[in-house]
Amino acid sequence: MAKLAKTKTSTKKSSATKKPVASKKRDMKYYFTVEDSVKVVQDRAGPKANKRAKEVFNSLVKHLHAFIKEANPTMDEWMWGINFLTETGHLSTDWRQEFILLSDTLGISMLVETLNNHKMSGETESTVLGPFYIENAPKYKNGANICLDNKGEPVWVHGRVTDAKGNPIKGAKLDVWQANEDGFYDVQQKGIQPDMNLRGVFKSDKDGNYFFRSAYPRYYPIPHDGTVGRMLKSLDRNHNRPAHLHFIVSAPGYEKVTTHIFTPDCPWLQDDAVFGVKESLIADFKTVDDPELAAELGMPNPFKIVEWDFILTKS
Ligand code: BEZ
Ligand code: FE
Repeated sequence: MAKLAKTKTSTKKSSATKKPVASKKRDMKYYFTVEDSVKVVQDRAGPKANKRAKEVFNSLVKHLHAFIKEANPTMDEWMWGINFLTETGHLSTDWRQEFILLSDTLGISMLVETLNNHKMSGETESTVLGPFYIENAPKYKNGANICLDNKGEPVWVHGRVTDAKGNPIKGAKLDVWQANEDGFYDVQQKGIQPDMNLRGVFKSDKDGNYFFRSAYPRYYPIPHDGTVGRMLKSLDRNHNRPAHLHFIVSAPGYEKVTTHIFTPDCPWLQDDAVFGVKESLIADFKTVDDPELAAELGMPNPFKIVEWDFILTKS
C-alpha cells in the first residue's frame, strides 16, 4: 500500500479513493428509516445543488412521502402507479398530451394557472388553454362569421376591451376558438369540418369594440380513451367540459389573458372535468327575435346574442 501511495496515479481522484459518505462532515442521516425518510432523501443534495431545484424537490419529496405514508400502497398498487405513469408518457405525442390532461383533471393546471394570474380589481379572469388552440388562425374584420359550415344556432358575440378603469383599448388582439354544435373542434374532425372552422383573430376598434358571428357551442368530452379516461371512470367522474368559447386577448402594455366565456345553461357547468369554470366567466346569452336588428347585423332571425367585455391588467 505504501508503495502504491507514492506512485503518481495514486493522487488522482477515483471512486476507490473517495471518502465514504458517512465519514464526510455533513449533518445528515445516512440510513433510511420510515420516520426520517424525508430528511434522508433531502439531505443527499450536495453543496453545488441548484437552489430552485433543491427547493422544489425538497417540497416534492416532503409531500410525496406524506402521501405514500397516508395512502400506504401495497407493492402491487405501487407497480400499478408506475405502469399508469409509464402508459401516460407513452400516450403523449406532439398531437396528444396525456400528461397535461392528467394535470388538468387533477386540478393542477387550474391551480398553477390561477396562482400565477391572480386578479385583484375585476379584471378578466383566466382559465385553461386546452389542447385545441392553433396559432395563425385566420384574421378577420369585425362583423365576420367564423362559423364556416353555417351549422348550429347563430350567435352574435360583441363587447369591449378595456383597462381596469373602463378606458377602451384600441387594437387589442382577440384570438377565438370553439367547438361546434356537435361538441368537436375542427382539428378533431379533419375532412368533416372545414379547416379553421370556428376560429379567428379579431382586433378591437378605436373604442375598444369587437364583434363577430359564431355558433352556439355545445359541451364536449375531453379525450377519455387513455389513462386519464380510465382514472375518471374508476372515480365515477364526468369526462365532459361545459360549453364555452375560448379567447386569448392581448394588447401592448397589458398582460395577455387566456380565458373562456361559458354558456349559462350547460348541464356540466358545475362539473367541468378540468375545473376550468370560474363564476365570473359565465355569460348571459340572450335569444333575440327582432328582424330589424337581425338584418342590421346580417344575422338570421331569431338569433342568440352575448355581450362580453374583456378587462386587461396593465403589465
Ligand atoms: C379545452 O377546453 O379545449 C380543453 C381543456 C382541457 C382539456 C381538454 C380540453
Ligand atoms: Fe375547449
